[in-house]
Amino acid sequence: MFASGGGSNLQAIIDHVHTLGAHAPVVLALVVSDRVAAGALARARSAEVPAVWVAKDRSHELGGILERHAITHIALAGYLRLVPTAVTSAYRGRIVNVHPALLPAFGGPGMYGHHVHEAVIQRGARVSGPTVHFVDAHYDEGPIIAQWPVPVLEQDTAESLAARVLKAEHALFPRCIEALCAGRITLGDDGRVHGADALASPQLPA
Ligand code: GRF
Repeated sequence: MFASGGGSNLQAIIDHVHTLGAHAPVVLALVVSDRVAAGALARARSAEVPAVWVAKDRSHELGGILERHAITHIALAGYLRLVPTAVTSAYRGRIVNVHPALLPAFGGPGMYGHHVHEAVIQRGARVSGPTVHFVDAHYDEGPIIAQWPVPVLEQDTAESLAARVLKAEHALFPRCIEALCAGRITLGDDGRVHGADALASPQLPA
């Protein structure tokens, strides 16, 4: 997993893998952060997951690091750097991101953290929620795997909306990662996602 921030999604995945037990199709093999003080690195070390700080001017080293750790899949959770194209191409269909709004709205460069939720509220959107998508060479543009809607309420602040969306992220992202690593979700040569119907929101009618 790649993370720049507090790592609550990382924690949700650590907990999910733990719950799955010995038959989990996922082994959390490495946490990478561009920020030496990221809470995600501390959470990884507490869970005895190997953790490395890769400063932004060393991102060209990522490919070698991933190879040395025999990484098969990558999950980005609050990772604020563009992943080098050498990595996104080598991991096509095996690298995913969680974004805290319903893409393709409220995404792209500069749309991270509180900026996303402020824009959603400012625009008057009545629905927001996490999007899990495959990662390509551009911010927030790869094919979408799953989206879980949450309401935007009149009294919401960026903080209250972020908390509601984050709760949905913590339920959705670990399931997506499990399904991806188990081979139940795939990205076709035509750019279409296969196997994602099982990850539709429980709140939506079939
Ligand atoms: C999440 O809201 C995620 O959608 C976004 O950054 C935030 C990361 O939070 N990309 P955390 O570090 O997992 O707590």
